[in-house]
Amino acid sequence: MALQWFLYVAAAVATINWAKSLQTDRVVCFYDSQSRYREGLGKVEAPGDIEASLTTCTHLVYGFAVIDGGNYKLVPVDEYQELDSGKGYYRAVTSLKKRYPSLNILLSVGGLADPVKDKYLTLLESEDNRKAFVSSARTLLRQYAFDGLDLAWEFPEIYVKKDRSTLGSLWHGFKKTFGLASSHKDEKAEEHRDGFTALIRELKNSLRPDGLLLTTTILPNVDTSIYYDLKDIVPNLDFVNVLAFNYTTPERKPDEADYPAALYQAGNRDVNHTVDGTIRWWLEKGVPANKIILGIGALGVTWKLTSDSKISGVPPIEADGPGEAGPQTKTAGLLSYPEVCSLLPNPNVNSQSTSHLLRRVTDPSHKLGSYAFRLPDSSSAAGLWVAYEDPDTAGYKGAYAKNKGLGGIAIWDISLDDFRGVCTGERFPILKAARNHL
Ligand SMILES: *[C@@H]1O[C@H](CO)[C@@H](O)[C@H](O)[C@H]1NC(C)=O
Ligand SMILES: *[C@@H]1O[C@H](CO)[C@@H](O)[C@H](O)[C@H]1NC(C)=O
Repeated sequence: MALQWFLYVAAAVATINWAKSLQTDRVVCFYDSQSRYREGLGKVEAPGDIEASLTTCTHLVYGFAVIDGGNYKLVPVDEYQELDSGKGYYRAVTSLKKRYPSLNILLSVGGLADPVKDKYLTLLESEDNRKAFVSSARTLLRQYAFDGLDLAWEFPEIYVKKDRSTLGSLWHGFKKTFGLASSHKDEKAEEHRDGFTALIRELKNSLRPDGLLLTTTILPNVDTSIYYDLKDIVPNLDFVNVLAFNYTTPERKPDEADYPAALYQAGNRDVNHTVDGTIRWWLEKGVPANKIILGIGALGVTWKLTSDSKISGVPPIEADGPGEAGPQTKTAGLLSYPEVCSLLPNPNVNSQSTSHLLRRVTDPSHKLGSYAFRLPDSSSAAGLWVAYEDPDTAGYKGAYAKNKGLGGIAIWDISLDDFRGVCTGERFPILKAARNHL
């Protein structure tokens, strides 16, 4: 009898593990809590404003907590906002599980929310620092009933040499595209990689007894081959969110606008700067496909066009730094999807003043992405070039994830999707289009 029971339990556990290992339809929704400080229609307050996404999301990743530089503990970015002793947003968000019982809610640390990046490296250098982080993380997660922790660790970015533009290399031959990017000099890179591996192992050991999830998010333009010892860390992670966008941005290439998140390579551009190049690299490293989550940027990346920019708008195109900030997101170089769609001609509105509108160029090839632009004009607005994810392009990326047998998709972040449904009446159209192709 006892043996039969044991065999039954063993079989049940094996079935659960097997089902888990085949999971390919995760929909990971990042929510950046800083979006609650936007003004007017751009203000996104959880839980209310994000609820319409939660029947689509399987995982909600609440961002972002940070590291206390003095003692290396995991702490909220703003205690007054997040903790029960203040406004209690953490509790309000994890309480959503009462109404969405299958939703997993994770707390994410880092994610560019923390302007001080050195401590993300020094924490890794000592066992004591890691211990302080691990035990504070477990306490915070349990106290606020999160289902797990996501490490969107702020490793240094690869920087781009300014003088090696794609524009130049397209003109001057193939050779120059090599060495386009060179690594940020981190004298202790190996130590940091080993420290990160140890941190993940220590976190896993600490979170396992409570069945809490542990994931990591690879931020754009971090050299994965330096900091992530995939063979040793992946077995301890439930999944990895690979943010496959922002390969080119106005910060990285102020003088040249180009596709920031193309699915496939165009011309002789760097294949690593494409979704497919990135994902194939991960698969070639032997990471199981179903642990890789394709991170889609629900955002527009903008540059300012000048009178020297070519009138066709075709990238790469000469530019002059980041495009003007949008009225809601108020960040140069970035527009949310509703900000982009308000600049596109709308067939349902007749009497529009059109001088500020953009010319829209869609991508029937499904390979590169959509963009829109307007040239500078002495009588009206400044020149603008924006490459953006829309429901169509997000749909191709969802289909790509499915095709490769990946573990799902992640949307970074849902506060930049059309959460009010102002573009076409549908709420969270980018999230839903990507999900529908999965
Ligand atoms: C692409 O990225 C990988 C990992 O960082 C690197 O090893 C490889 O050399 C890169 N390829 C090119 C063409 O830059
Ligand atoms: C992506 O690029 C935009 C524009 O440069 C920037 O504002 C945003 O912070 C970037 N996001 C990530 C995750 O790198």
